Amino acid sequence: MEVPGSYGVPWLSAIKDKLDFHYIQGEVEFFKSRVKKYKSTVLKVNFIPTPPGFPNPAGIALLDQRSFPVLFDNSKVDKRDVFVGSYKPSDAFTGGVRTLAYLDTEEEKHARLKEFVFQILKSTGPRFLSEFEAEMASALAGVEAEMESGTKNSIAVSSKLLDLAFNFMVKAVTGGADPSSQFGSYGPLLMQLWIGVQFAPISPRTQLPAVIEELLLRSFPLPPLIVRWPYDRIAGFFRDNATALIDMGEKQFGLDREEALHNLVFVVGVNGFLGFSRMLPSLLFYVASQSEAFQQRLGGEIRGAMGDDGSARKFMAAVERMPLLKSTVLEVMRIAPPVLYQYGRARREFVVESGDGREFLIRKGELLGGSQALVCRDPTVFDSPDEFVPDRFLGAQGRELERCVFWSNGRNTDSTSSANKQCGGKDFVETIGRLFVAQLYLRYESIKLGPDSKPESPVIKSLRKISVATRT
Ligand code: HEM
Repeated sequence: MEVPGSYGVPWLSAIKDKLDFHYIQGEVEFFKSRVKKYKSTVLKVNFIPTPPGFPNPAGIALLDQRSFPVLFDNSKVDKRDVFVGSYKPSDAFTGGVRTLAYLDTEEEKHARLKEFVFQILKSTGPRFLSEFEAEMASALAGVEAEMESGTKNSIAVSSKLLDLAFNFMVKAVTGGADPSSQFGSYGPLLMQLWIGVQFAPISPRTQLPAVIEELLLRSFPLPPLIVRWPYDRIAGFFRDNATALIDMGEKQFGLDREEALHNLVFVVGVNGFLGFSRMLPSLLFYVASQSEAFQQRLGGEIRGAMGDDGSARKFMAAVERMPLLKSTVLEVMRIAPPVLYQYGRARREFVVESGDGREFLIRKGELLGGSQALVCRDPTVFDSPDEFVPDRFLGAQGRELERCVFWSNGRNTDSTSSANKQCGGKDFVETIGRLFVAQLYLRYESIKLGPDSKPESPVIKSLRKISVATRT
């Protein structure tokens, strides 16, 4: 059967669709309204970005639990240069290197670079956790000091979480080099500039007026030269300080030193920093928005499993005894996946099945794209899909559902490997998410957010510290 939907009039309809997507309907309604119109969760759409600067927006959206996983099937889908869809930022953004995220599994370099990433995580693992713990303690001490000064009613924490994400990753991969010695407090900003310009055409809505945003950011690719200076400074810092990992890339994986370096910067900056800068605020938002009773229950589980020892080492030993923590973090990843879209190009002609059992013909070369905002809220799989239900993944039935969460470009029950395109940091990301929440409730009995909090920008109104009575 032919895929329903229409690309409309060349250029004009694509531009209209882009305006719907960003400014008129919004990302979720954009897809929902088209599902309704064409009565299908597999349909033709114009993806962003669009003409004039990006001539090939036509693709097929996969918006249900049955069709979406075809994106993980290497035999059907080619992941070459589709990390963010039809737009491929110039390699000049990454020192002239085409980084791992843009490579397909059939390219020889993919497996080698992915093994390099696994080895980075393995060799630096304990350091990541201890740096995270230290940076988190310092971020929370900063929040408490601001609260105690009494000058503010509530504390916006997004920028502190950005600092945390930046510092712990950079320090871990450089063996403890302090980025502030080189960048002052501007490290995260330099990284954001580099990321922002590189992905401007597909970035979420900014605070700029729509016309300016459209003309400035989304009409044509921005020249890498704009962010050459910040990127060279960041890459220079890694070149000077991450020598042990670059040596490892060269000796153990046969990589050119510059290739190892720019891949390392991409993994830390785009995969890690960008991912955590979205994940940590939404973890705090969803957990701290829950009732006092829930926070007591979650905190009780964490403190019961870890006792007085809040160290990362103890955490790793105790994590299996914290099922509610695991379920809660996974529920945040379901309701607010940090990366919303996944893409792939059909390697050959094949048939894809939609959630309602219809079969559609996909032709070789067609761009396929899935939206997790819809798939991870597919009502045929998840009860009350738009509600945050922290217990959702508990018990035998809950564990069955874990496979239906796709934040990592794969099922949550699948394992990342050099033979697939699943997030290389999947287990690490889950660990950091759980450690983040555990550290919060080892320190506080409850957290209250201000009414102006949003998942991307939580504002803390009050923190109730653990009392001696609770500890004993
Ligand atoms: C790829 C999510 C953090 C390493 C991906 C992809 C997603 C993702 C969705 C697949 C993109 C695609 O091809 O469609 C996330 C999220 C993170 C995060 C949400 C944090 C919240 C990390 C970290 C690392 C990492 C910390 C490593 C230290 C990678 C690598 C790939 C990847 C190497 C490319 C895999 C490949 O090409 O085979 N990530 N990631 N990620 N991620 Fe992550």
